Parts: sequence; C-alpha cells; structure tokens
Amino acid sequence: SRPTRIAPSILAADFARLGEEIRNVVDAGADWIHFDVMDNHYVPNLTMGPMICEALRPHTEAPIDVHLMVEPVDAIIPQFAEAGADIITFHPEATRHVDRSLSLIHDYGCRAGLVFNPATPLDYMDYVMDKLDVVLLMSVNPGFGGQKFIPGTLEKLAQARLRIDNWVNRGGQQIALEVDGGVKVDNIAAIRRAGADTFVAGSAIFGHDDYRSIIDAMREEIAK
Ligand code: DX5
Ligand code: ZN
Repeated sequence: SRPTRIAPSILAADFARLGEEIRNVVDAGADWIHFDVMDNHYVPNLTMGPMICEALRPHTEAPIDVHLMVEPVDAIIPQFAEAGADIITFHPEATRHVDRSLSLIHDYGCRAGLVFNPATPLDYMDYVMDKLDVVLLMSVNPGFGGQKFIPGTLEKLAQARLRIDNWVNRGGQQIALEVDGGVKVDNIAAIRRAGADTFVAGSAIFGHDDYRSIIDAMREEIAK
C-alpha cells in the first residue's frame, strides 16, 4: 500500500515557541513540517518568511514542506532553498511561467509541487507531470487555519489520484498527493479513501494538548 504522511501545519502552533513545537510534534510522529507562507497579497494574511525557516531548520531533521501562498513566486524560491526548505509548492496561477518556477525549485535542490485551490482546475498538471514531486489540493480557500473542509475536494482528489496513477503506470516518477485544510480525525479516513497520501493538519493537531495521541488517532483512521 501507498506510504502515508502526516504533515502538521505550524500555522496553528504557538509562534512564541516554534522550535520546541516542531521538536514535540516530530517526536509525536509527524513526518513533514508544513510551513505556510502568506504574503498579504496573494492571500489576505501575513505569516512567515525564509528567516523563520532558517531559524527552525536546526530543530528537526524532518522535511520542511514550504507552501507558498505568495505572488509573484520566483524571487522567494532561492531564499527558501537556502533557508533549508526540502519541498516547495506554489499556486500555478500566482506565477507567469509555471514550468520555469518548477524548474527553479529543482535547480536549487528541492522537491517541487503545485497547489490547487478548490476551484482551480487540475489541468495545470498536464504538461509538467515530469516536474512534479507533490500535488497539493486545498480543501479550504487558502489564507487561514481552522476552516471547514470543502466536501467537493473528495471528488477532485479521486481525479488527481487517477492522473497520478496513470502517470506512474506509464513509467513516470512517484508524485505525493497532499491535502490541506480542515483535515481532522473524523474525515481523514474518507480523504485517504479518495486518494490522498499526505495529510496537512494544523488546528486538529496543535489545538490538542497531546500531539502523539491525535497523530496516532489519525493513523488509526487512515489504516481503516
Ligand atoms: C491554509 C493553510 C493550511 C492551514 C491548515 O491556507 O494552507 O495549511 O494551516 O489549517 P487547518 O488544518 O486548521 O485547516
Ligand atoms: Zn498550507
């Protein structure tokens, strides 16, 4: 069966103790650290830049999964790569040259991916499949943590799963299928069945006082 990964979004962590929060959540079983970058332009909120990524890098060996909600995209890619990002994803409509932005991420030695808003068509994948390490489907409109999962995402996940499986069956590289927004213990099994293998969760994990028990509960649901 496919690997599964839990990627806690530190957007919901205690910002005054981020290093400690990351160590705790990785000790509790997190696979990737999801790092939400908002610029008050592409989305109406402002969060963390490359300096915070660099400061957190020594606190964990887990991959740092940088989700860029910024426009434009290219100028910030080298800065995040140099700050220790492992994975960099961006929204295709936020850059003028999608293929070039993906190549730029690879040139800097990181894994690359596209992020699809709830109403963004999956067609952006079509001609860049060979450059994708990750496809991230938003299950909320980006900008804030703690929103409700949009149910239509399940059907879209199934479509993305098909595209990826067809690609892999024809000899293409593996592509992670990640979902972000409103992921909780009570919907993660359905999200898994629809085809996701990587699960971002912010408020569901950091809003709980025992990170291990909530991550274990998510894994139990995924295994069902
Ligand atoms: C939303 C961010 C998400 C967010 C998820 O724009 O991309 O990563 O932190 O938070 P929850 O899990 O609380 O919906
Ligand atoms: Zn995110």
